[in-house]
Amino acid sequence: METKIIANPSPEEIQDLGRILRQGGLVAIPTETVYGLGANGLDEEAMSKIYAAKGRPSDNPLILHISSMEEVPPLVAEIPETARRLMEAFWPGPLTITLPKSDFVPLRATGGLARVALRCPDHALARDLIKAAGVPIAAPSANISGRPSPTTAQAVYHDMQGRIEAIVDAGPCSIGVESTVVEVHPHEVIILRPGGITEDMLRTVVDCVSYDKHLLGSQEQPKAPGMKYTHYAPNGDMTTYVGADQEVAQAMVKQIDALLEQTDSKGAVKVGLLVSASTLHVIYDLWNQGNASELTDKLIEDEAVEIIPITYEDDLDLAHSLYQALLDFNDAEVSYILAQGVETKGLGVAIMNRMTKASGGQVITCKEKNVHC
Ligand code: TXA
Ligand code: MG
Repeated sequence: METKIIANPSPEEIQDLGRILRQGGLVAIPTETVYGLGANGLDEEAMSKIYAAKGRPSDNPLILHISSMEEVPPLVAEIPETARRLMEAFWPGPLTITLPKSDFVPLRATGGLARVALRCPDHALARDLIKAAGVPIAAPSANISGRPSPTTAQAVYHDMQGRIEAIVDAGPCSIGVESTVVEVHPHEVIILRPGGITEDMLRTVVDCVSYDKHLLGSQEQPKAPGMKYTHYAPNGDMTTYVGADQEVAQAMVKQIDALLEQTDSKGAVKVGLLVSASTLHVIYDLWNQGNASELTDKLIEDEAVEIIPITYEDDLDLAHSLYQALLDFNDAEVSYILAQGVETKGLGVAIMNRMTKASGGQVITCKEKNVHC
């Protein structure tokens, strides 16, 4: 199958794409978080194609995307007041709400669960496509399972070319990490996946907010089945370093020295650095001390170190660039990635959740006076 990329579709093209979706085809759609791999959320066969295209485990449920709150009632058994208030406050936006499903929703959409996940994206084109389809659109992130989620149409094309009918290109996603997923009860809201809507933001509307135990380190089965699988993984072996710039830089320089002494099947090992501009500054200073300038020259000459400096000024900047940076490291064929983490507050909770998973749990806290990490 040839996968068409359609940039900024005309009203006629939107109707055509809506028809493809309604009739069971797969179309990747832009949202404010990441690109989604859309299919008719009421059509079991169409949703089976999503699992096949992504290589996704069949017990991992899908989010049904709708274009307004009015589309919720037929899909759920009931709407508690807590859910209504969250929808009014945060929709359209990066909040996914799970509620007991109605009989109308196929079990294929929920991976056999009794709850359905619903989200109204803050992206006018996404909502226009949903309206044109006339059905809820099931859409997981449009990547091959396990890989970083796509935040551009080109990244979708890389994973999905030949597997889906079309990709709607609306440029880079504005947020860059997936929606917050919450399980909503009449008197309780449980965060199953941290994302664009933070705990504090939820607390402005409801006070009974908690995190799923799994997110707090419990070995219990996560309530969002997707959270138990390997995710967001780049090809290189990634480690995340958390701490002040100085300590992170020292730990990274030590690790780079150790890694560059190794060779792999391709010869010299190549290391990727994902750091803030200020940490990079400290790294250069460290390299330039003593005889290290020779090393710096050698690293740059041999292209042994691939550096992706990112704006860490604001968590939103990092969220926006994170997945693309991981994909760029894949293109650069680095064997190791040393990444600088952030504080786990606000959007930082979602960022560290994704970085921890991308690192396979290899997160090192660099404390002052402790450079042995
Ligand atoms: O921002 C997003 O949410 C993006 C865009 C495309 O909307 N979509 C997305 O979908 O990230 P996906 O399938 O990659 O992740 C959905 C997450 C998974 O962890 C899944 O297990 C969880 O939501 N989920 C879906 N339905 C659920 C349910 N009924 N109960 C618990 N968790 C659910
Ligand atoms: Mg995903």
